[in-house]
Amino acid sequence: MSRILITSALPYAAGAKHLGNLAGSMLPADVYARFQRARGRETLYICATDEHGTPAELAAVEAGLPVAEFCALAHDKLHAMGRGFGMSWDHFGRSSSPQNRKLTQSFAQQLWEAGFIEERVTQQVYSLADKRFLPDRYVIGTCPHCGYEAARGDQCENCTRVLDPADLIKPRSALSGSTEIEIRDSKHLFLRQSLFADRLREGIEAKRGTWPNLVTSIALKWLDEGLQDRGITRDLQWGVPVNAADWGPNPDGQKPDVAGLEGKVFYVWFDAPIEYIGATWEWADAQAAAEGRAPKDEDWERWWRQPGAADVTYVEFMGKDNVPFHTVGFPCTLMGINERRDSAGRWTPSSNAPWKLVDDLKGFNWLDYYGGRFSTSQKRGVFMDQALELLPADYWRWWLIANAPESSDSTFAWEQFRDQVNADLADVLGNFVNRICKFAESRFEGKVPVGGEWGDLETKLQADVSAKLAELTGHMETREFRKSATTLRQIWVLGNQYLTEAAPWTAFKTDPVRAGVSVRVGLNLVALFARLSAPFIPATAKVIAEALGDAEVAGWPSGEGDLLTSLEPGRAIRAPDVLFRKVEDTQVAEWRERFGGAETA
Ligand code: 2FM
Ligand code: ZN
Repeated sequence: MSRILITSALPYAAGAKHLGNLAGSMLPADVYARFQRARGRETLYICATDEHGTPAELAAVEAGLPVAEFCALAHDKLHAMGRGFGMSWDHFGRSSSPQNRKLTQSFAQQLWEAGFIEERVTQQVYSLADKRFLPDRYVIGTCPHCGYEAARGDQCENCTRVLDPADLIKPRSALSGSTEIEIRDSKHLFLRQSLFADRLREGIEAKRGTWPNLVTSIALKWLDEGLQDRGITRDLQWGVPVNAADWGPNPDGQKPDVAGLEGKVFYVWFDAPIEYIGATWEWADAQAAAEGRAPKDEDWERWWRQPGAADVTYVEFMGKDNVPFHTVGFPCTLMGINERRDSAGRWTPSSNAPWKLVDDLKGFNWLDYYGGRFSTSQKRGVFMDQALELLPADYWRWWLIANAPESSDSTFAWEQFRDQVNADLADVLGNFVNRICKFAESRFEGKVPVGGEWGDLETKLQADVSAKLAELTGHMETREFRKSATTLRQIWVLGNQYLTEAAPWTAFKTDPVRAGVSVRVGLNLVALFARLSAPFIPATAKVIAEALGDAEVAGWPSGEGDLLTSLEPGRAIRAPDVLFRKVEDTQVAEWRERFGGAETA
């Protein structure tokens, strides 16, 4: 049985996290991780804060804190928030960890020595007032493409074009606002991505039909536009330092220009994906410390390096903006270490144990708020910490997965959220569980009824549930989250239909044995619902399992045998408290007022 390695895009330490961040990477990754664990597969789900680069530095300046301190606080906050939403991360690391620093520096060194990194003198924006270079977001100016006046040096927020700070018209410093700016030469390192274009195309073509269309089309578009070499260093202080003094010569016998690279750091998009590996290393070290033993490289390498990782399937989750960096950037880093290319363009495996490349990549579109963007500055939309103050995590988890922006963007609206949560969670699932458990409490002494035989109704139910379970398992395996939620809801509905037809409340008066059979089957349905719902709404699933006398939710059913007979007759059960309270119209009105509604779109 294969092991499953899961990563979700690393959230920037800086910046507010809105529901879209949850919907488009962390949450589906969590649902998938929970499902795979329930299937009995050895699963590792890794995430971390992405702490380097200009977003963190600028946010720290705004908060008036040293950047390291700012990132430490932001990490703890995000960690707590994620756990609040039920993220079952095996480890939530930090891209500023010593492990990531070691890996990033070692990867860069290997890429240099293999000839995949080259030095170039580039033109960078320098602020005379701030006495420093201004990379990426440190420069603000007018977008040369659309004329937007507050475009950032790395990307125009208005037309989404990727920019270079030197492209901006009327550039000014994001730090001081000063326009006393000049362009100066600065030496930087470039990863020679263009050498990998054919290899990458081959790999992505092979994933057509398996990976979402969204993902392969974004990746191929980048390749079609001609893959550019990428600057992987910056004139910044906060980041992984470029350790060029340690490096040996490249294949042409050239050593790096140590003096020219002095004081620079790697670009955040170079070290961030490496943190997937770094955080796995952090996890292994933490495990060893918790068990009071010395850490071993093998503990984390078995997830990432061949031959140990031969049985690992590696699945990445992310929003569509991150797709190019994961289908092109990160694979180039790993391929450059795994392989050698001679001057005639022939590739051969290097003598190193190769690193694992992504097997499956799930990309998502955007979640909007009433058809417009979530925006902190314009107070539009509900953010992760606020959401948890309003309702428990499972309400959000359910709605976000049932409306996952898979084939297109999806939109959040309070009215639709209310209707769907009330219908699915309160009416269909919650009501079912409550009704049957209460009835068992009042009429069967709070025990799973003993005796009586199944009739046609039960046999048909078993066949229907079994067919739907196969469908659900298939959708979950292929990471089709909307379809999974729809099928799960259909299974809940089958339970409701069964109870309506079997009507034990009526049968009890005339045929208590028959009523007992229906209640036993009903309680078994409750147990089954907990198992199937656990990846989506884990806290509720646990409450249900406990009401049925189990400390934990049982694993994913195989589809044979115990589907509707797992609870032994005579077992004591109790009715849980109301599982889901309905979202009221008054709440919707209040939340629209507070977070904005259609009128702000
Ligand atoms: O877009 C973002 O939020 C980035 N911080 C994602 C990084 S993913 C990975 F490469 F680290
Ligand atoms: Zn623009």
